[in-house]
Amino acid sequence: MRLLVTGGAGFIGMHVVDAALAKGWQVRVLDSLAPGIHPRPPRFDPRVELVTGDAADPDTVDHALDGVDTVCHQSAKVGLGVSFADAPDYIRNNDFATAVLLAGMERRGVARLVLASSMVVYGEGAYTDPETGQPVRPGPRAESDLQAGIYDPRNPQTGTVLAPAMVTEDARLDPRNVYAASKLSQEHLASAWARSTGGSAVALRYHNVYGPRMPRDTPYAGVASLFRSALARGEAPRVFEDGAQRRSFIHVRDVAAANLAAAGFVDGMPRGGFRAYNVGADEVHTIGDVAAALSRFGNGPAPVVTGEYRLGDVRHITASSALIKDELGWAPSIGFDEGMREFATAPLRGQD
Ligand SMILES: NC(=O)c1ccc[n+]([C@@H]2O[C@H](COP(=O)([O-])OP(=O)(O)OC[C@H]3O[C@@H](n4cnc5c(N)ncnc54)[C@H](O)[C@@H]3O)[C@@H](O)[C@H]2O)c1
Repeated sequence: MRLLVTGGAGFIGMHVVDAALAKGWQVRVLDSLAPGIHPRPPRFDPRVELVTGDAADPDTVDHALDGVDTVCHQSAKVGLGVSFADAPDYIRNNDFATAVLLAGMERRGVARLVLASSMVVYGEGAYTDPETGQPVRPGPRAESDLQAGIYDPRNPQTGTVLAPAMVTEDARLDPRNVYAASKLSQEHLASAWARSTGGSAVALRYHNVYGPRMPRDTPYAGVASLFRSALARGEAPRVFEDGAQRRSFIHVRDVAAANLAAAGFVDGMPRGGFRAYNVGADEVHTIGDVAAALSRFGNGPAPVVTGEYRLGDVRHITASSALIKDELGWAPSIGFDEGMREFATAPLRGQD
């Protein structure tokens, strides 16, 4: 297998590169290595061929695609950003760059794509009404509820407080910010490319990814990294709401393994096919659990549950990864305690 990993210098991309090398695959990386993301140039295994450049530049993409069988497209501008002023940058690096890449793949006859997507395409997670047992789409959370410490959303018809359920791939898609919209648009582009060129594409909707070399706290970082960075400063992790927000935290090496499984799978897919899969852990944990585990394994101060809230935050989102297990034979292998124990002292990107 000759694999191109875009964003191969990033947190997840580097783990995909390591896993592909371990399988004996030939690996090329395309990454812009922008100093804002990479304060120091990352070090690569000597077997990796590095193309430094912008995925939105057609000549760079042509060069990077030369002789490649499959593209594992990880490069993107990640996180929630600082303000709406970031929107053009998200669209440029995520959607425009994906369009340039896919056009290059058509030119070069590269017909297999694995796309890094995200759980953010769902917006709020799945819920059931405990009184009826029926699935319900929650209404927006009211500020008065949040102030009163009622954090779970309500049934918009009856006002009953809802119970969280597992999100499956057929859930309604509801991207709620520019990053989420750009990730969903990447999926739509990949699907349109597959249909129009006869290529095949798999989108992996990663849930909260954590593990070694995660970027340290920036406005674009995930919550596990914010807790780790606080602990590294000797401070207690600050947990919003009541800490009971449920997420599917998934270890980065398991995400890399899902990418390899998908790269094998796209090979045998029907031409013009597009599939999307959740990639999450089997165990459901809360954000409070993550803060507590990192404090415990890192011998740091216990978390502080602050009751602070942000109106737009998603309350619960937990994935069912049954489909990818069924169809690709992938399953997570690193349990929560094992992963958090390692992550509590693992190096972060950008940490001195
Ligand atoms: N980290 C998570 O929890 C998570 C969750 C869901 C989805 N994802 C997706 O996974 C992918 C990888 O995320 P990550 O956490 O490793 O992010 P990251 O920022 O660590 O890595 C992204 C890499 O892409 C590169 N890049 C960005 N724009 C580029 C461009 N225009 N041209 C070339 N290279 C460019 C960056 O230099 C960086 O090395 C992204 O597509 C992201 O949306 C991540």
